[in-house]
Amino acid sequence: MTVSDPATAPQSAATAAPRPGPGGIAAAPLPPGLFHDGAVLTVEHLVVEFPAPRGRRVHAVSDVSFDVRDGETLGLVGESGCGKSTTGRAIIRVDRPTSGRVVFDGTELTALGPEALRRARTRIQLIFQDPISSLNPRRRVRDIVAEPLAIWQRGTPAEREQRVRDAITAVGLDYDAAADRRPHEFSGGQCQRISIARALMLDPKVVICDEPVSALDVSVQAQILNLLEDMKARYGLTLLFIAHDLAVVRNISDRVAVMYLGRLCELGPSDDVYARPAHPYTVALLASIPEPDPAAARNVTPIAGDIPSPIDPPSGCRFRTRCPFAQQRCTDEVPPLTAIGPERFVACHFPLATSGPRSSAGSAGSSPEPAPPIQVDTPPTAP
Ligand SMILES: Nc1ncnc2c1ncn2[C@@H]1O[C@H](COP(=O)(O)OP(=O)(O)OP(=O)(O)O)[C@@H](O)[C@H]1O
Ligand code: SF4
Ligand SMILES: [Mg+2]
Repeated sequence: MTVSDPATAPQSAATAAPRPGPGGIAAAPLPPGLFHDGAVLTVEHLVVEFPAPRGRRVHAVSDVSFDVRDGETLGLVGESGCGKSTTGRAIIRVDRPTSGRVVFDGTELTALGPEALRRARTRIQLIFQDPISSLNPRRRVRDIVAEPLAIWQRGTPAEREQRVRDAITAVGLDYDAAADRRPHEFSGGQCQRISIARALMLDPKVVICDEPVSALDVSVQAQILNLLEDMKARYGLTLLFIAHDLAVVRNISDRVAVMYLGRLCELGPSDDVYARPAHPYTVALLASIPEPDPAAARNVTPIAGDIPSPIDPPSGCRFRTRCPFAQQRCTDEVPPLTAIGPERFVACHFPLATSGPRSSAGSAGSSPEPAPPIQVDTPPTAP
C-alpha cells in the first residue's frame, strides 16, 4: 500500500507531482476556475501546523485554497476542531502560516513586515465567537468602539465621537444609554453588536466573522445575522463567515466551503451545495441539521464516530475512517480538489451525483462498490 498523505507518510508517485510546501504538505494542483479575477481575498495552499508534544505536529490546516469575491459572503463550515478558526486567524497572521500565500486586495499579507501588516489589518477585521470576553471589561463602550480610531489617530476628537455615535446607533443600540456602560452590563447579543460596531470603525473591506452567533440564543442569532447583512449592504463589506452549523451559514452565504480535519472537502454556491452535496462529509453534515418537518426529513444517517486527531490524521482522504464509501484508493491517495461543475469543487475520489439520473455506479476509473452502512439519497456516481 502506498500512503500519500505527507502529513503521515512519504508521498506516493501518483500524488508526488505537486511541489511540497515548506510545511511538508504537498501543494496539490488547483482546479481551473477556483480563483476569480478581482477576488478581494485569495488563500492559496495554506498550511498551518502547531508544535505538539514529543516533536509531533498538529496539522490544523493542510493545503487549503479558496478565494472570496468582492461583496460576497463565503461560509466556512465543519465540525469543531476542523481548522476553521485557524484558517481565519492565519489569513490575518494572528496564527502564523507554516506555508502558503494569502493575498488581500492585491497585497500579499504573508509577505508583509510587521508595520505593513498592522496597517493592512485595519482593512480586514475579525469578529470573535465570544462577544463578552472579546471586549475589555474595564472600558466604557464609547472607548471600546473608539479605540481603533484613537490608535490610528483618525479624525479630530469631535469627529471620532460622532463616528462612534453613528456606529453604535447603526448596530441598533441607543448611544446615550450605552456609551458610558461597561460590557458586563450588556447581554451577549448586545456585546456582539458592540463588537460589530468596533470592527467597522476603520472602514474594513473584509470582515472575518468567527462563529459570531454560536454563543447566542437562537432568537438573538437571527437578529445578529440580520444586522450583519444590513452592515454588509450599508458599508459594502465582504464576509468570510465561519460556523460549525450549516443551517446558520445557509441563509447568509453566497457560497459555502466545507472543511474536514484541516482540509477543504467541498466548495460551491450555497443553494447548490445544500440541494446536491457531492462530498459524503457534506451529506453527513447536512443530515445533522434538525428537520422541523418529519415528512421532509432526508433519508440519510447522520455522521458516526469521532473526528480523528489532527496530530496523526488518516492517510489519503482524511474522512475515510468515517466514510461509508471508502475504498483502498481513499487510503492511498489524497483526493485533490476537482471541478465537478460551474463553481463546484469537491475533494473526493468518488463524489456523489450532483445532477442527472441517480445511479449506484461508482466513480469513473475505479468503479468501487460503496460500502453499505449509510443510506444516502444520492449515491456515488461518475464525476
Ligand atoms: N495554538 C494552538 N496550538 C496547538 N494546537 C492548536 C492551536 N490552535 C488550534 N489548535 C488545534 O488546531 C485544530 C484546529 O483548531 P481550530 O480552532 O481552528 O478549529 P475550529 O474548526 O475553529 O473548531 P471550533 O468549531 O471548535 O471553533 C484543533 O485540533 C486545535 O486543537
Ligand atoms: S469516497 Fe473516499 S475520497 Fe470520497 S470522502 Fe469517502 S473516503 Fe474520502
Ligand atoms: Mg473555531
